[in-house]
Amino acid sequence: MAERVAIIGAGPSGLAQLRAFQSAREKGADIPEIVCFEKQDDWGGLWNYTWRTGLDEYGEPVHCSMYRYLWSNGPKEGLEFADYTFEEHFGKPIASYPPRAVLFDYIKGRVEKAGVRDWIRFRCPVRRVEYKENGKFRVVYQDLVNDKEHDQEFDYVINAGGHFSTPNVPHYPGFDTFNGRVLHAHDFRDAVEFKDKNILILGTSYSAEDIGSQCWKYGCKSLTVAHRTAPMGYDWPDNWQEVPALVKVDKDTAYFKDGSSKKVDAVILCTGYIHHFPYMEEALRLKTANRLAAADLYKGVVWVHNPKLFYLGMQDQWFTFNMFDAQAWYVRDIIMGRISVPDKNAMLADVKARVDAEDALEDDYACIRYQGAYTKELIDETDYPSFDIDAANQAFFEWKKHKKKGIMTFRNNGYVSPMTGTQAPPHHTPWKDALDDSLETYLQV
Ligand SMILES: Cc1cc2nc3c(=O)[nH]c(=O)nc-3n(C[C@H](O)[C@H](O)[C@H](O)COP(=O)(O)OP(=O)(O)OC[C@H]3O[C@@H](n4cnc5c(N)ncnc54)[C@H](O)[C@@H]3O)c2cc1C
Ligand SMILES: NC(=O)c1ccc[n+]([C@@H]2O[C@H](COP(=O)([O-])OP(=O)(O)OC[C@H]3O[C@@H](n4cnc5c(N)ncnc54)[C@H](OP(=O)(O)O)[C@@H]3O)[C@@H](O)[C@H]2O)c1
Repeated sequence: MAERVAIIGAGPSGLAQLRAFQSAREKGADIPEIVCFEKQDDWGGLWNYTWRTGLDEYGEPVHCSMYRYLWSNGPKEGLEFADYTFEEHFGKPIASYPPRAVLFDYIKGRVEKAGVRDWIRFRCPVRRVEYKENGKFRVVYQDLVNDKEHDQEFDYVINAGGHFSTPNVPHYPGFDTFNGRVLHAHDFRDAVEFKDKNILILGTSYSAEDIGSQCWKYGCKSLTVAHRTAPMGYDWPDNWQEVPALVKVDKDTAYFKDGSSKKVDAVILCTGYIHHFPYMEEALRLKTANRLAAADLYKGVVWVHNPKLFYLGMQDQWFTFNMFDAQAWYVRDIIMGRISVPDKNAMLADVKARVDAEDALEDDYACIRYQGAYTKELIDETDYPSFDIDAANQAFFEWKKHKKKGIMTFRNNGYVSPMTGTQAPPHHTPWKDALDDSLETYLQV
């Protein structure tokens, strides 16, 4: 009897897994039966935008953490699929920092071409995964549309549920009596809401930088960004200041560690996300910090405590789509018996070596090289089309330099595709003036 594989989530990672199996079948291999469970009504994961926040129409937590006017925060040359280039999808070279709708279209293009939509059960959140004595997984899922619970047995489970969806929400004194709105980045949808407002942002990573930049672009009055560890240190516009950690708020005023204060209208918590998989039974549940070497995952994907369970895309991410592909092809080949997994001690040693190597990295450039090397390591063991990882690293290095040079202008630059060698054209409108982020407008010449 054919083996059965459950994939949880049809975001970029889950879709990479579907494409990996489909490409093996295309080459004549017998593949297991695949069932992908997706709680949303469409594929694309975080890239599938919704205006909703909080709970959806079925009472499920809304997955989307993206917002209107979101443009890629890194160059598309770093995330390009090796088996489906931007040029193939759009029929021409496009600029390097596409808005969300453009990347969503690209993600969909590959899986539409592969014809794998039928493998997905939409509106079917997985409620429980357990490992049974008979050596199989019991997967309980809810059919939301028909309001029915089902369970099924699987030989393998691949968790591609994403880890930038459940917000990390700290409390600071005074939040409960603050006069304005306190929200997490997960619930941020439209910067226009904050036009003419004084905003306080907590956090110094990508959400802080990008949500602050959006609010600046769409006309907020001022931005104050409080850092717990270190300031971001870019050359910010005049109405943007970086301040030490928040101590408390009192009605309409925020007080900081250096004794300074600022009247603010809203607080946006850009304080990151937690890996949150309550539906995995305890023994199967990944618990890790958001880092490049995730805990308990051999080769970054195999659950060391039960190597019939895999997690995709659980690392902090410089590389994204093509790293998910590298992982998906690797996991496929383990399941199909083309790659063998060593014993538990060897797997634990592999995890430790990755953690130690990450801990020794000195700066972001080294982190990029590290994740590039990891991606290459996996690709070298499968038939995923090999590509010039150094060229992808190079796009990231230039991106970092361009950000340093101009945090509101870096998206006006273009890079060379590691897949086609084509130099991206500049976008027709500088990012700060491009208020319409639709696919149609972006693709205009
Ligand atoms: C605000 C924001 C902006 C980003 N911008 C960029 C960017 O510009 N460039 C870039 O490369 N990356 C960006 N990322 C990183 C992002 O993590 C990846 O691009 C990508 O979306 C990760 O894919 P994934 O499939 O691992 O997870 P997700 O995209 O989160 O997809 C997970 C899927 O699993 C489903 N799911 C979850 N739990 C269950 C369950 N129990 N049952 C069934 N289905 C379930 C979800 O509904 C979802 O469809 C951004 C992330 C955030 C939060
Ligand atoms: N346009 C885009 O493409 C875009 C936009 C936004 C986000 N993203 C992506 O989304 C992902 C998540 O990024 P993220 O910025 O949300 O999360 P993140 O990278 O995990 O950063 C979390 C931030 O929150 C801070 N923080 C955590 N707890 C805090 C607390 N109690 N008080 C104050 N600060 C606290 C951390 O500060 P410390 O440094 O002190 O720990 C850190 O600066 C990334 O992959 C990013 O690329 C992309």
